[in-house]
Amino acid sequence: MFDIQNIRSQFPILSQKINGKDLVYLDNAATSQKPLLVLDCWMKYYTEINANVHRGIHTLSQLATEEMELSRRKIQKFINAKHDFEVIFTKGTTEGLNLIAYSLTNLIKKDDEIIISYLEHHSNIVPWQMLCQRTGAKLKVIPMDENGVLQIDFLDKNLSEKTKIVSVNQVSNALGIVNPIDEIISKTRANSNALIVIDGAQSVPHMKIDVQKMDCDFFVFSGHKMYAPMGTGILYGKEEILRKIQPFHGGGEMIASCSFEKTTYADLPFKFEAGTPNVGGNISLGAAIDFMENIGHENIQNHENALLDYAQKKLLEIDGLRIYGEKAKRTGVVSFNLEGIGIASDVGMILDKLGIAVRTGHHCTQPIMDFFDIAGTVRASFAVYNTFEEVDILVEGVKKAQKMLS
Ligand code: ALA
Repeated sequence: MFDIQNIRSQFPILSQKINGKDLVYLDNAATSQKPLLVLDCWMKYYTEINANVHRGIHTLSQLATEEMELSRRKIQKFINAKHDFEVIFTKGTTEGLNLIAYSLTNLIKKDDEIIISYLEHHSNIVPWQMLCQRTGAKLKVIPMDENGVLQIDFLDKNLSEKTKIVSVNQVSNALGIVNPIDEIISKTRANSNALIVIDGAQSVPHMKIDVQKMDCDFFVFSGHKMYAPMGTGILYGKEEILRKIQPFHGGGEMIASCSFEKTTYADLPFKFEAGTPNVGGNISLGAAIDFMENIGHENIQNHENALLDYAQKKLLEIDGLRIYGEKAKRTGVVSFNLEGIGIASDVGMILDKLGIAVRTGHHCTQPIMDFFDIAGTVRASFAVYNTFEEVDILVEGVKKAQKMLS
């Protein structure tokens, strides 16, 4: 049974007061809070195990290695990767995307094309621009309409043998829009040999992922948005392509042999894991998966979608409030502005005084803001521990901000 009070009781941070009010945490798309299962796992690692992995024959090092590799297999199962060595630990989505863009450099030539979408976070724009600068490739952008819906017939005209990479997010961090990645992937497969990269930062916390069924070549996400510690993330890549591409960082752990004349690289996944990993974090990411699976993906999704529907309905009752992407299929996020109030952060500051945490600004998606000709939005984003009462508090807070600012 879905027991929201029981879930909330597992998040100590939620019971504190902010500015004298009960905390209403609605900035989950930026980072989620962490449950006791994850905090305890982190604490246990540092109080009982802490040692470097894959390096020592001493007991603690072996234990740390076993726990981290166990976590890797949990993640493999969580996203249904074919092999555990297709799961690479990173420090987050941004690092994953930079790794892919860098590692593909040798395979990209002048006049090749890379396709992204209008709805991308800067981290799925800038690494590709940098790759274009290195190689002379061209960046193309799938346009969107007024509702934030991607115009994917663009692909029919623009996919060709020149297209080498198609990289899109599954869910937009700024607007919460769920992109039609199944159609994007099938169009890409039918009309090109491009590699497909999916940014799952905002989908993994909310929906069940199956990378084999999805048939992407790469899938990246962050741990800290799905109840795990900051500084954790995953890059999934298909074995065949991971074997083909060059490493991102050089250093310890990623070599098979090293001399001044020549270095050979370690096997997967270590070829892409140079340096000491975030062992405690990576193990705790496994605990975050346990937390989510104990509740069940369907329960999480149903609750969060019900919260989003309710928030949208209540917010739209406020005169002069506009929700961006209102008519599009969305999950986890409602992004809005109040007519006549040009600065979203003014609303955010008043909400903060009421104990309500939301994000305001451009959400690292300036092209989306430019499209709507705005500087930013107020964004409320949900996690499994949020309640309908919290939505009511948000709505009352927004009304109060509107009164104060207009
Ligand atoms: N990318 C994160 C967000 O959307 C930080 O808030």
